[in-house]
Amino acid sequence: MRRKIAAGNWKMNLSFSEARDLCSEINNVKIPNGVEVIMAVPSPYLYVLNAIARNKSVSIAAQNLHSKDSGAFTGETSHNMLSSIGINYVLVGHSERRQYNKESNAELKAKVDIALANGLSVIFCCGEPLSIRKKKTQDAYVAKQLKESLFHLSAEQLASVIVAYEPIWAIGTGVTASPIQAQQMHKSIRGLVSKNYTSKVAAQLPILYGGSVKPANAQDLFSRADVDGGLVGGASLDAASFTAIIKSF
Ligand code: PGA
Repeated sequence: MRRKIAAGNWKMNLSFSEARDLCSEINNVKIPNGVEVIMAVPSPYLYVLNAIARNKSVSIAAQNLHSKDSGAFTGETSHNMLSSIGINYVLVGHSERRQYNKESNAELKAKVDIALANGLSVIFCCGEPLSIRKKKTQDAYVAKQLKESLFHLSAEQLASVIVAYEPIWAIGTGVTASPIQAQQMHKSIRGLVSKNYTSKVAAQLPILYGGSVKPANAQDLFSRADVDGGLVGGASLDAASFTAIIKSF
């Protein structure tokens, strides 16, 4: 059976005291059997929140890492900084970083490689802008993102990757991809993995949906055959909403 995952992406939000309270509340939630909760938090809070998140079903993730080991990269965070404070997960390729920090597929490939080579699991984000969706070429667009940043990995390495499909037009807009649209894309992604690896590898890959996931739509989305959970932005900043989403499986 595939892993079920409710991941939160706090982005650049919350003061430290708000972050600590939210983390403690989620840590105390009775997480349904077989569900994993991951919270991608701002980097200054990683160490302390990782100490608070003692629930074995709850993990803390970084939102980014640098593609080099160390050096003169002011303001950046390395894989070793993350793993040396006990962090096991990192987001790579979020559309906001692709857009605002001009992260290319090649740069993201380098980030995926350095994370995996150093024992970090990757939540790899992909997804198309509205202009591509309007042209109905979203499958090819996402296929290119995966091909150029992920499909060079061995099957063994891919086992440490979670894919998050996040159509850009649905992020922070209140517009959610319909469960049918999400399922179509997730099926297409799994098909690609099957073609590039094996059907067994594809069957084990968790694929999360992201883009305006809310308590009201989570259950319908998560019940689709190829949707293994969500990457949740806005609704993960509120303990009651995120708890409702965690309980939607
Ligand atoms: P949203 O963000 O849930 O606020 O749409 C999702 C994301 O960017 O990961």
